[in-house]
Amino acid sequence: MELPDRIADETALEELLSRPTPAVVDVFRRLRGDLAVLGSGGKMGLSLVTMACRARDAAGSSAKVFSVSRFGDAAVRRQHEAAGAETVACDLLAEDAADRLPPAAHVVYMVGLKFGTAERPDLTWAANTVAPLQATRAYRDADVVAFSTGNVYDVTAADSGGSVETDALEPRGEYPNAAVARERLFEYASRERGTPAVLLRLNYALEPRYGVLVDLAQRIAAGTPIDLATGYFNGIWQGDANAAALRLLEHAGSPPLAINVTGTQTLAVRDVATRLAERMGRPVAFTGEPAPAALLSNAARATALLGEPDTPIERVIDWVADWIARGGRTLGKPTRFEVRDGRY
Ligand SMILES: NC(=O)c1ccc[n+]([C@@H]2O[C@H](COP(=O)([O-])OP(=O)(O)OC[C@H]3O[C@@H](n4cnc5c(N)ncnc54)[C@H](OP(=O)(O)O)[C@@H]3O)[C@@H](O)[C@H]2O)c1
Repeated sequence: MELPDRIADETALEELLSRPTPAVVDVFRRLRGDLAVLGSGGKMGLSLVTMACRARDAAGSSAKVFSVSRFGDAAVRRQHEAAGAETVACDLLAEDAADRLPPAAHVVYMVGLKFGTAERPDLTWAANTVAPLQATRAYRDADVVAFSTGNVYDVTAADSGGSVETDALEPRGEYPNAAVARERLFEYASRERGTPAVLLRLNYALEPRYGVLVDLAQRIAAGTPIDLATGYFNGIWQGDANAAALRLLEHAGSPPLAINVTGTQTLAVRDVATRLAERMGRPVAFTGEPAPAALLSNAARATALLGEPDTPIERVIDWVADWIARGGRTLGKPTRFEVRDGRY
């Protein structure tokens, strides 16, 4: 895929984030029915829904793409409709939610709640347990790709290559444990009712408006020293994560396939921040020393199944540096990737 040297504006960014690869288009040639994307109103949803619509159109498919979320922001809903999706406003915590979900043969499940857990842990648990329960009841016979997170693992040694899918799910903190519960509910439905499923453990989607690279670049722009205590992370271009999610619809199974979706490298915060600062023409200062362990996932299973992500991490770093140096719009949603006690 032809990649630009820089991303001019948000229109170019949305186009790039939603550009389907030939492999994604091929998936839409083979789908057996409509697709519902649940929890599409968040940071990744528009680009994933748009990619699905573009792939469907390129494949000449007549499948519908339903975009389902609460859509508190009407402008977001209009964007999804403009992309070619049929929108459904639905709160998955509502008692009658299952009755309002559109029938579909394929489901990408993106509902989640992480931030605010320290203040309202009850909401985090409800969003990550009640909502999956409603979804699994409504879509017994669909192929389901359920977004999960690398937070389901405990921290691991920085030189270990990252947690693998068979590792124990024994993280610290309420959000990570609620995320384990979210997975277990999809697993339960899959084992008990045979619903084919994938548990997609994502570690840090990257794009210029939010993500670990934005957090680092903003500190560099502000002249704030970067604390190295959380010294390592994994990341993947959000467009590649979207493509992986759609391709994984064809790998749903019972029991479910758990799969880490992230970049193939363990990234050192010091190295990444140094490159960002160079590209931004700014100095960078560091404090502290990297702890020997960090939240890291091993991408070998996804690489074997889908190949390596298309977008080199160096290119993503350069795009983000350029965007932040130019004062490009950001979402104002820090990842808090440096949190080590699971309190978000
Ligand atoms: N972005 C990352 O780097 C990252 C990393 C690891 C894992 N993940 C996982 O990937 C998934 C997608 O990521 P994201 O960044 O797009 O997440 P996000 O910004 O939190 O979006 C999730 C969306 O789900 C919708 N939602 C929440 N509660 C709902 C409810 N009760 N009923 C219906 N919809 C509800 C919300 O949109 P409305 O307000 O419109 O309802 C929310 O914006 C999440 O589940 C997350 O756990 C993401």
